[in-house]
Amino acid sequence: MSASRVHVIGASSGIGHALVGELAARGRQVVAAARRLDRLEELARAHPGQVVADQLDLAVDGEPEAGVRRAVAALGGIDALVLAAGLPTMERLRASDARLWREVLEVNLVGPALAATEAARHLPPGGRVVLVSSCSAARAWPQLVPYAAAKSALETLAHGLQQEEPHLNVTVVALGAADTEAQADWGQDRLREAYREWRRGGFIDGPEQMSAPDVARTVVDLLDSPLRVPRVDLMPDHGSAQEVR
Ligand SMILES: NC(=O)c1ccc[n+]([C@@H]2O[C@H](COP(=O)([O-])OP(=O)(O)OC[C@H]3O[C@@H](n4cnc5c(N)ncnc54)[C@H](OP(=O)(O)O)[C@@H]3O)[C@@H](O)[C@H]2O)c1
Repeated sequence: MSASRVHVIGASSGIGHALVGELAARGRQVVAAARRLDRLEELARAHPGQVVADQLDLAVDGEPEAGVRRAVAALGGIDALVLAAGLPTMERLRASDARLWREVLEVNLVGPALAATEAARHLPPGGRVVLVSSCSAARAWPQLVPYAAAKSALETLAHGLQQEEPHLNVTVVALGAADTEAQADWGQDRLREAYREWRRGGFIDGPEQMSAPDVARTVVDLLDSPLRVPRVDLMPDHGSAQEVR
């Protein structure tokens, strides 16, 4: 079934923001959720009658579940939940304290787990849950270990959710490097240095990054697919994607 009412969490920038634009262009109804309400309201103004802005912090107790219930109320039900929020902290283990670990796990694992579980109570048979993960989850990249550990657990959650809620179609979308604010926040110098280390270690083999709109188009195609798709890995296509500046 095609998803006509979609809840996107992590919609204020990057992949989630591009997803809302792509969904609206295809005539869907969307609740766009994240913390930065001004960004979400801009999206709602750009797509009047199609996009509802909802301020949501995945790290606040009760909010992941309440946010899903607000989306269900706003759209009269949802057909899909996309968890595109993420906190990709770049830090070495020696510099990662308890606070960093907790923040990373809260936003990348606990909040998404609670939102996805609440969505399972509302989604119809065939309803989709898309959990955006990272190719760093399979083999933790240096400087991204807490984040990779959280994404690895997120993928385990996806598997378990599918077992306990067989009426759903649960999909992990594991991304390679994409040009979004997540990476911009690291700063160009640190990013270049990290890319060199990741290339040396064989974690990435080129300098390219995917664009958020390219990823968004592929995810919306997936939402419309009649097939069960447990997992998809999206990587930059050498030569056609943009390079790290
Ligand atoms: N970019 C990459 O290279 C890459 C690679 C692999 C995987 N990913 C994954 O792709 C997904 C999208 O990331 P992106 O690259 O598009 O990064 P981004 O531009 O930084 O977007 C992250 C989104 O998460 C939201 N978010 C962060 N903390 C939140 C919280 N506590 N509660 C609710 N929302 C929160 C942010 O909104 P607010 O700040 O407004 O709350 C923002 O909308 C993430 O799951 C990320 O881990 C990205």
